[in-house]
Amino acid sequence: MAQHIILIGPMGAGKSTIGRQLAEHYGYSLVDIDSAIEKRCGADIAWIFDVEGEEGFRRRESAMLEEALAADQPVVVATGGGIVTQPRNLQLLGQGGVVVYLMASAGQILRRTRNDTSRPLLQVADRAAAVEKILAEREPLYTQIADLSFRSGDGSAGRSVARLIEQINGYLGAPN
Ligand code: S3P
Repeated sequence: MAQHIILIGPMGAGKSTIGRQLAEHYGYSLVDIDSAIEKRCGADIAWIFDVEGEEGFRRRESAMLEEALAADQPVVVATGGGIVTQPRNLQLLGQGGVVVYLMASAGQILRRTRNDTSRPLLQVADRAAAVEKILAEREPLYTQIADLSFRSGDGSAGRSVARLIEQINGYLGAPN
């Protein structure tokens, strides 16, 4: 199995955006798990949650993660925030390559997802409480499975990614 670069972290942490930039830098393909599921099903995530429930979505998510990590060539994988909720996924992540935890505070998450209608778990009356609960459940899992943790902050995205690339290269023992 190739040494992939896998991004984990909560909704709104920038996994897809940073994933695109890392893929470009390393010359790898990007597999964005949510987008790959939507493409495969021909339906969006909200629809899948509606029709199949969260359980159905999690089954599809695990299968797509496994498929992405089975690639012979290294890829960048941008996961969905709930990937760590399934023990099977933790096992896959642990064997898949370098796992980078993109950290974000509850405030950042709420700001960045303010106008979002595509994330079923945030379509609730009290979004702040939902985010707090999700973070409390998942932060220990993100930390446990991550090889590197990275706080992108609110500054220049380009500078952030350059710092992250240095960390990844340091971890992989590659020159910058
Ligand atoms: C989820 C996060 C979403 C998506 C789905 C469930 C979660 O992905 O997979 O709405 O459980 O946190 P992002 O982290 O890309 O928003």
